[in-house]
Amino acid sequence: MDLKLKDKTVFISGSTSGIGYCAAKIFLQEEAVVYINGRTQQTIDKAIAGLKVEVPYGTVHGIVADFSDAESIGHLIAQLPAIDILINNVGIYTSKSFFDTTDEEWQHHLEVNVMSGVRLSRSVLPTMIKNNWGRILFISSECASLVPEDLIAYSTSKTAVLAISRGLAQLTKGTAVTVNTILPGSTKTKAAEQFISNMAAQKNQSVDQVETEFFKEARPGSLLQRFASVEEIANTIVYYSSPLAAATNGAAIKLDGGSMGGVI
Ligand SMILES: NC(=O)c1ccc[n+]([C@@H]2O[C@H](COP(=O)([O-])OP(=O)(O)OC[C@H]3O[C@@H](n4cnc5c(N)ncnc54)[C@H](OP(=O)(O)O)[C@@H]3O)[C@@H](O)[C@H]2O)c1
Repeated sequence: MDLKLKDKTVFISGSTSGIGYCAAKIFLQEEAVVYINGRTQQTIDKAIAGLKVEVPYGTVHGIVADFSDAESIGHLIAQLPAIDILINNVGIYTSKSFFDTTDEEWQHHLEVNVMSGVRLSRSVLPTMIKNNWGRILFISSECASLVPEDLIAYSTSKTAVLAISRGLAQLTKGTAVTVNTILPGSTKTKAAEQFISNMAAQKNQSVDQVETEFFKEARPGSLLQRFASVEEIANTIVYYSSPLAAATNGAAIKLDGGSMGGVI
């Protein structure tokens, strides 16, 4: 299927690894021009080197910015070219008791997970509307609805994203711009793989046992009963960024393997 993304310019926040990196790879395979982002030049250089091996014909650039630092975001926005597709992907989480989570940790979650998308969208949406084409995707999480008790700050930030996304979609009425949110379930990034294998070592169990137990106990509503692969999430991100997905606007798209339940 031709996703008609050739020569579209894409910016993906937090994309030197994980879901963002994989989405960058797929956009490059579709011949889009991709700007990746991370906090250091070193991680960006490493990611660009990897992407150039995986997609030798791709055009990829990197912009360093730390989304916990407003000044750094200001520099990023000043460097951004005209963007057709914005993927608000950057997201951090800390597993911690609500009672031990400090104001600073709450602020950190809100800055990185919420204000990153607010600031980037405020910068690029007016031009998208003027050009009568654009895509903004927010990457939320199943936690926006499940709200695991050790992830209340993270979950709050991911629920906030849904309101921002829907509100921005309403600003696109009558244009060919769309704003949507993707809600992935537990996804097997390298960081998740590391977490599972540490847990397996700690419990003296196999990786498969830990994974089975996680879904039984922490995600009993999951119909998939396994982690999604980064490719499964990234493929969907790229599809909803494409001109082919024009009829989807203001939507919350669940990639949760059924964990959130419900008929819609
Ligand atoms: N993995 C999951 O199971 C899962 C499930 C549901 C939703 N999600 C959501 O999907 C999105 C991607 O998650 P992921 O698991 O793929 O992430 P990840 O593997 O942890 O990727 C981290 C990326 O974010 C960048 N980053 C971290 N803090 C940053 C900051 N302050 N400023 C700029 N970049 C920063 C890192 O870049 P540097 O290290 O180069 O700075 C790296 O590129 C997130 O919004 C996450 O909440 C993930």
